[in-house]
Amino acid sequence: MLTIRETAVITGANRGLGLEFARQMLIADYKVIATCRQLEEADELYALSDKGSLTVLPLELTDTQSIADFVKTLHGQPIDILINNAGVMGAPTQDVDNMEIELWMKLLRVNTIAPFELTTRLLPNLKMSERPRVIAMSSQMGALNANGEGFYAYRSSKAALNKVMQTLALQLAKDKVIVCPVLPGWVQTDMGGKDADLSVDESVSGMLRVLDNLSLEQSGQFLTWHGTQHTW
Ligand SMILES: NC(=O)c1ccc[n+]([C@@H]2O[C@H](COP(=O)([O-])OP(=O)(O)OC[C@H]3O[C@@H](n4cnc5c(N)ncnc54)[C@H](OP(=O)(O)O)[C@@H]3O)[C@@H](O)[C@H]2O)c1
Repeated sequence: MLTIRETAVITGANRGLGLEFARQMLIADYKVIATCRQLEEADELYALSDKGSLTVLPLELTDTQSIADFVKTLHGQPIDILINNAGVMGAPTQDVDNMEIELWMKLLRVNTIAPFELTTRLLPNLKMSERPRVIAMSSQMGALNANGEGFYAYRSSKAALNKVMQTLALQLAKDKVIVCPVLPGWVQTDMGGKDADLSVDESVSGMLRVLDNLSLEQSGQFLTWHGTQHTW
């Protein structure tokens, strides 16, 4: 039987969850288009090239021109999976007594607006796929049911990301594009820190199982790395 290899785009793939997505997807024989801001700081990503079909492209998500250039490079190429992974948490200077407004604007740009911009600009590519799927890395810190103090910028950017993904899911259902915000868990990366609950392997292998089984009926749901629905 002929197996069709799927193509996946992963943003922020030079480290953390993005790098692990690239690693596991190459082993699973996906064609991987991995993006990073600085090609010269992507040694670990390039080292994966012996595991399968890898393309590394530059993408700075705060720069609309960079997004446009990236999308232009992919013109006419079907994309089955888009993983809006890149994100920033920012320093703890986002509390009631020390908020840096510029930081807040940056986090909204990277965590909320860029996934919208990239997803909508790649729609022609996604519509060429038999089963297009878009996920975005959300966070427990953006869930309205789980409150905590501080980190206003990060929390609000992820809560808004959830709403953006939910609305895209509704609007893109007619094109059969599946869209879900996904919670990776608390993961041992530069962002999550070494005391986090999960290894990158555990989190990403769980999310890949979710991606593998994702149906149009689930589109718009807020899913966890192990496939259950999370409360908004
Ligand atoms: N780790 C956790 O526990 C956890 C929990 C919940 C949600 N998440 C989410 O999961 C995603 C990945 O997290 P992680 O832990 O792997 O984080 P990470 O290790 O800090 O990596 C973040 C990635 O995003 C990239 N990035 C940041 N700003 C960017 C920009 N302006 N343009 C393009 N790329 C940019 C970084 O590139 P550079 O190397 O160039 O900075 C890096 O590749 C994020 O969206 C995060 O919010 C993580």
